[in-house]
Amino acid sequence: MKIVVGGTGYVGLVTGTCFAEVGIDVICVDIDEKKIDNLNKGILPIFEPGLEALVIKNVSKGRLQFSTSLESSIPGADVVFIAVGTPPGENGSADLQYVIDVAKQIGKYMTSYGVVVTKSTVPVGTALQVQEAIHEELKTRNISIPFDVASNPEFLKEGAAIDDFLKPDRIVVGVSSKEAEEVMRKLYKPFLLNGHPIIFMDVPSAEMTKYAANSMLATKISFMNDIANLCEIMGADVNMVRKGIGSDGRIGNKFIYPGIGYGGSCFPKDVKALIKTAADNGYSMQILQAVEAVNEYQKTVLFSKLNNRFQGSLKGKTIAMWGLSFKPNTDDMREAPSLVLIDSILAAGGKVRAYDPVAMNEAKHIIGDQIVYCDNEYDVLLKADALLIVTEWADFRSPNFERIKELLSYPIIFDGRNIFDGKEMNELGFEYYGIGTNN
Ligand code: UGA
Repeated sequence: MKIVVGGTGYVGLVTGTCFAEVGIDVICVDIDEKKIDNLNKGILPIFEPGLEALVIKNVSKGRLQFSTSLESSIPGADVVFIAVGTPPGENGSADLQYVIDVAKQIGKYMTSYGVVVTKSTVPVGTALQVQEAIHEELKTRNISIPFDVASNPEFLKEGAAIDDFLKPDRIVVGVSSKEAEEVMRKLYKPFLLNGHPIIFMDVPSAEMTKYAANSMLATKISFMNDIANLCEIMGADVNMVRKGIGSDGRIGNKFIYPGIGYGGSCFPKDVKALIKTAADNGYSMQILQAVEAVNEYQKTVLFSKLNNRFQGSLKGKTIAMWGLSFKPNTDDMREAPSLVLIDSILAAGGKVRAYDPVAMNEAKHIIGDQIVYCDNEYDVLLKADALLIVTEWADFRSPNFERIKELLSYPIIFDGRNIFDGKEMNELGFEYYGIGTNN
């Protein structure tokens, strides 16, 4: 089989590389020449554990190629994935211009039957638009080539993308013909060895599945953040409540960790887009509107705790931050709660010293020189008035507490991810504030 992946962003690069890893010939195409040049040299545009090694290995085996030309790549492809970006457009709907651009080029250059698969997260109905764009081009060429359009949403998590792709919980594919179903079944066969299911459905249902999955996960998080805030008021401990409810199999113990709000390139965008799709079609997604509102509020709670502790006068105070990325194992700063936190501290006249194991460069691009970037998790503490734990990197979980105490002007920790136990921290001599706990 030969496949082409249009777009070497997060999803495209992981998809192409993982298909190559199981022995399929893959060409990843991107219009960004510099990116393609770098990829050919084994230099990756993103940080993702394990990805670089897989790219280098599969390029050297000749199974993975990078190109800037859809024109030379598309002819003869059995499957073409569209994995280009769908940035938030006006009013929160996904901007489909890049998806449609690739579809047009597929219509322009295809030479034989193939399945065109949308892999980017796209609103319900996009596959139809892709189909029409290809038809238009074929009409212009005055030629009739059969093709199918399928929807194959991606569920991988940044930081765990390789594992998620190679050992998926499930593969969802929306198809409208038996032929396309067979091609997709054959393509995914190497990933089904451990009994993971491939679920075929109609195209709109597959498109909706992606939004429903991310929205459900975002709902779990906002719900737990709401419960955490109430726990604080009522004298309960959300860490206990989480364990108490998570052990009920119907609820499950994943994605119920309260924190400082969800971020990243997916949840915020997808929740917004689903609310918008519904509104455009005369329906109001009331739960998701609340999910969004709670998330915006949650991004402010750590600052409120800090501000209250210093009686509303952060002017001249130095605040140390552990972590900047929206979650561990990624350098992604998109919609990171740290950005909101930093803005608030700076606006209140405070200074920020920050350290992140991987996201420092990304952060510098976005935040610039408004804060001080430090070399490690201890440098950051020098003469700081408090420590904020913003991202739960494994590096921060078992620190030298004595050293922290020595370096901080006063031993106060605001733990936005509940990585420490409040009682233990008090015993160690820290003033400790977690999320949803008074311990
Ligand atoms: C998310 C989904 O988990 C993937 O399945 C999906 O494929 C991806 O979006 C996508 O649409 O591309 P991702 O954004 O990489 O993946 O990150 P998650 O691990 O889901 O975390 C999202 C946010 O939720 C983070 O800010 C994290 O800190 C927060 N979170 C997560 C919590 O606050 N509490 C939790 O219990 C779990």
